[in-house]
Amino acid sequence: MRLDKFLSHHLGISRNLVNKELKAANVTVNDQIIKSGSYQITTEDVIKYQDNVIEQITEKRYFMLNKPQGYVCSTDDSEHPTIAYFIDEPMADKLHAAGRLDLDTTGLVLLTDDGQWSHRITAPKHHCQKTYLVSVESPLTESLITQFEQGLQLNGEKDLTKSAQLEIISEYQARLTISEGKYHQVKRMFAAVGNHVVALHRQKIGSIELDIAEGEYRPLTEEEINSINER
Ligand code: URA
Repeated sequence: MRLDKFLSHHLGISRNLVNKELKAANVTVNDQIIKSGSYQITTEDVIKYQDNVIEQITEKRYFMLNKPQGYVCSTDDSEHPTIAYFIDEPMADKLHAAGRLDLDTTGLVLLTDDGQWSHRITAPKHHCQKTYLVSVESPLTESLITQFEQGLQLNGEKDLTKSAQLEIISEYQARLTISEGKYHQVKRMFAAVGNHVVALHRQKIGSIELDIAEGEYRPLTEEEINSINER
């Protein structure tokens, strides 16, 4: 990786500022002053800024975030703030959401820089279960449980949805577990039975359960990370 890119990510400053710091002889690689931003570094190199070692990130990273409404799950959006706002980590732009939530959906988002790991969550063939708390506009009826279990015909889709588990909590609230992730899937499932989702909150992905306050994030435990690998 280029030294200026590394410094910009790890110090959280622009390439312009990085170049100023380089020119001011504030950066060393293996105790040699380096002034050129294009200098290539490896994971073995010891990089210091003003005599302090900058730890290189070599391990894969895994976090959970409790997403509030009004934030998009992509790292770059010109219209809306992104979930990157909440993530105070070096090279946060290298993290991606393993399964996105809509702008108005709240709850569990898993973030990682491990593409293989997130693939196990999002790829249809892995059938990773996601559980949502759903609030709806019209009263729920027991007959929906069988309909959701048998599969629904979504607008514009060829196949029925895979078997889903609906647990009715109250007249207007249910918990739904699905094992696929089509575009706006939960909202479209309720639309298919003539209802309308007014609030949607993801509680669980696989066996990883949301346990932090809205707007907070934390690293996943070893056990949580492995729970996806072992699926
Ligand atoms: N299904 C939806 O309709 N929206 C989401 O954000 C997640 C699942």
